Amino acid sequence: MKVAHEPAEVRALLDQARSEGRRTGLVPTLGALHAGHRSLVRRAAADCDFVVVSVFVNPLQFGPGEDFGSYPRDLEGDCAQAEEAGAHLVFAPSQEAMYPVPPLTTVRVERLSSVLEGRSRPGHFDGVATVVTKLFAIAGPCAAYFGEKDYQQLLVVRRLVTDLSLPVVVVACPTVREPDGLALSSRNRYLSPPERAAAPVLYWALLAGKRAIEEEGATDPAQVRAAMRAVAGREPLLALDYAEVASPEDLSSPATITAEVRLLIAGRLGRARLIDNVSATPPGTEA
Ligand code: PAF
Repeated sequence: MKVAHEPAEVRALLDQARSEGRRTGLVPTLGALHAGHRSLVRRAAADCDFVVVSVFVNPLQFGPGEDFGSYPRDLEGDCAQAEEAGAHLVFAPSQEAMYPVPPLTTVRVERLSSVLEGRSRPGHFDGVATVVTKLFAIAGPCAAYFGEKDYQQLLVVRRLVTDLSLPVVVVACPTVREPDGLALSSRNRYLSPPERAAAPVLYWALLAGKRAIEEEGATDPAQVRAAMRAVAGREPLLALDYAEVASPEDLSSPATITAEVRLLIAGRLGRARLIDNVSATPPGTEA
């Protein structure tokens, strides 16, 4: 497996692969790879003939006081994991290579970026959308793989691809969980042992909301939110940010639950801000 640091080199390698008739896949990451990332790379390697994993801690998507400085960086370990999962190339640009001059251009996906995570982390999705657009411009026509764990990010990326007519097929991959239900995240490593023991409460809260819809027939979003909050509220270490019911297409709030919805939750455990989500489908409305 090759490691490249310059955008021009990556563009040339992917152009070359396509000119040989190979299908190209891109797995964008912030690094600190774990089994969730490996599952994205494995899926990309199953679909494509040439897979590039980008490893770049993107300063634009971190707000003041967030963990940009302390975000775990381990390029050697990331390369070993990417290779083991089937990548052909790791793209690990420097800040200067990605942003040779301070960018004057921002990609903003209106509405989708200002709710939920966007409300708690202003500017976060502008940073994500901008860097992902740059990565797509560098990679060229490809399939790009994103985890459903970051569901709002997935919708933002899908929408920018549509709005900007980018030659990219966005592939959503299922969330990978620990045996106790905690969704894998690079930020799980910030958790102390008691916080780690408490962390699956986010998933349990989502499951309580899902049960309310799928087994108890709840159609009022307020009732579902209350079911999720009741479970989350039992964990004193968790500072809950939100537990919401949203449309899976545009994250709008349904007045009544009459079709599939997405349940999304976020909260802080110590210095770790964790997010998770599941889908829920009312009985009798399954596709
Ligand atoms: O999900 C992530 O790891 C990041 O937000 C992404 C998509 C690599 C953009 O920096």
